[in-house]
Amino acid sequence: MSLRIGILMGGRSAEREVSLKSGRAVYDALVAKGYEVKTIDISAELPARIKEARVEIVFVALHGPLGEDGTIQGVLDLLNIPYTGSGVLASALAMDKVATKRILLSEGLPTPRFAEYRRPEDEEEILELAETVWAEFAGTLVVKPPGQGSSLGMTIVRNQGEVVGALRTVFQFGDRALVEEFIPGIEVTVPLLGNRSPRVLPMIEIISETGLYDYQSKYTPGLSHHIIPPRISDEAQAEIARLAVRTFELLGCRGLARVDFILSEDGRPYILELNTIPGLTPVSLFPDSAKAAGIDMSQLAETLLVLAQEHYMEAGGFVD
Ligand SMILES: Nc1ncnc2c1ncn2[C@@H]1O[C@H](COP(=O)(O)OP(=O)(O)O)[C@@H](O)[C@H]1O
Ligand SMILES: [Mg+2]
Repeated sequence: MSLRIGILMGGRSAEREVSLKSGRAVYDALVAKGYEVKTIDISAELPARIKEARVEIVFVALHGPLGEDGTIQGVLDLLNIPYTGSGVLASALAMDKVATKRILLSEGLPTPRFAEYRRPEDEEEILELAETVWAEFAGTLVVKPPGQGSSLGMTIVRNQGEVVGALRTVFQFGDRALVEEFIPGIEVTVPLLGNRSPRVLPMIEIISETGLYDYQSKYTPGLSHHIIPPRISDEAQAEIARLAVRTFELLGCRGLARVDFILSEDGRPYILELNTIPGLTPVSLFPDSAKAAGIDMSQLAETLLVLAQEHYMEAGGFVD
């Protein structure tokens, strides 16, 4: 492929810094292969910037709202430029953890029990809501914003006193709270690569030094460890791989995705979420898994561009 490639990175989401690192890793990987590559830090005048750069294909290295949620994908559809990863609908569905879970449940796929709550009007109602949440999920529960990544705004609540604080935190990120039952167990993530019937790359068990795979442990080298293959039975691995592919297909993803799981102590897999643009930084899970499969970062970036082009051609020169 000898096309001019644009990498969209940065943006306005809380994951801007991660995106800049993912974009940089992709840039280095493609330049190493001799490609003509431009980086574009997205801003309000995005369509003009993309046109100006005269790129023929776009690598989307954005994470979080306004990058991974279908908005940029819609802009690129309008400009009729092929791009890496999922289209508008899959991106939007996967970015919303509540929407994802509803779809999983509609097909009988396992995901932790949950409820969605709206931000109350005033302080007194927050206290009431905390009571309701505790009554429904007493024990250990997780409170997270439905539309963020990188564990931003998330709290694992261990006693009743922590519920109010967790709700206040989550409502700083928006007016919806996803409350989920906490599943103790082994955390496993599954990278997928391909358009239809994606290839399952080596799955990874994640352990965190802090006991929580949060923003800090995700992006500070040494605070989390990737174990390939995970220390779980062959049957559990096969079941998790099957569920990951079902989730990818159910949401209508393409190119790449990473599905996060918890394998409970009694051996049952639960799907937490699907990431349509998983981190691509040098310490991220996806590139690590690809490496274990003998695919280096340059080959990975190139494969994603080829998949983007294949989809574009199949769609008759129009995306989505
Ligand atoms: N219901 C749950 N049970 C156990 N651990 C959870 C649960 N939800 C989240 N976690 C932990 O928090 C991390 C981040 O949650 P996740 O739903 O994957 O959101 P994101 O990665 O988008 O922030 C997970 O990787 C896992 O370590
Ligand atoms: Mg996750």
